[in-house]
Amino acid sequence: MKLSTLVMRSLVLFVIIGPTWGQATKEPERYLFRREHDRDGIGKFYMGREIAQVMGHLGAGWLERPERERQEQPTRLMKALDLKPGAVVADIGAGSGYFTFRLAQVVGPQGKVYAVDIQKEMLDLIRQRMKASKVENVVPVLGAESDPKLPANAIDLMLLVDVYHEFSFPYEMTQAMVQALKPGGRLVLVEYRMEDPTVPIKLVHKMTEKQVLREMGVFPLKHVKTVDTLPRQHIIIFEKKREEKKGK
Ligand SMILES: C[S@@+](CC[C@H](N)C(=O)[O-])C[C@H]1O[C@@H](n2cnc3c(N)ncnc32)[C@H](O)[C@@H]1O
Repeated sequence: MKLSTLVMRSLVLFVIIGPTWGQATKEPERYLFRREHDRDGIGKFYMGREIAQVMGHLGAGWLERPERERQEQPTRLMKALDLKPGAVVADIGAGSGYFTFRLAQVVGPQGKVYAVDIQKEMLDLIRQRMKASKVENVVPVLGAESDPKLPANAIDLMLLVDVYHEFSFPYEMTQAMVQALKPGGRLVLVEYRMEDPTVPIKLVHKMTEKQVLREMGVFPLKHVKTVDTLPRQHIIIFEKKREEKKGK
């Protein structure tokens, strides 16, 4: 083929598919990018907050550390959820399943726990433990960065422990999570308290209650309460608003 024909064909191809290249990878305008940023963040900002780097699967041992009970009181957190047998729950950003199996025990055989994570290695750990301890009411789900891949209007309670601040697409994830909640279903965010400088956690992995309320405020969610009885974390509870009945 002559060089001039090749150049011409490449040009035509660029005109046809060129404009769609950019669209496929374009970030929504709600996100800002800064060169100068926290070393533990990804340089991407949402509503004035820098998004944290995702904790890799090699950190699973830290999630399962025995001293976690003393440091964070997860048993107290479980009680605060006031969960009933038979409930359908989603553990979003389940990691190694530290909360997944506690939730599975409470909801019992009539209930179900979707364990959602974007790292296959974390889900493999959950599958191994399901097999070893013969747990049948857990459903591992490989989510995407902007989609938890859950059925619509199906979940009674979604638990996010130490996860939301890592979402690289917090708006899209929350939109999809709200869709997956039943009307009246609860969304529970557990985040290290940014207001407390003595909480020994990296800055971008902490959140203020105010910031969480700001970010959830753009969705059809009602802030039910914030429970501050844990040593290091806020428990911030929202409820999906029920659709108002239309008048005549
Ligand atoms: C710090 S770990 C917390 C794990 C667990 N919730 C716990 O408290 O033991 C955060 C987890 O969130 C996951 N994650 C990050 N972004 C996610 C997303 N968009 N959807 C689902 N999981 C996500 C990470 O892969 C990681 O396993």
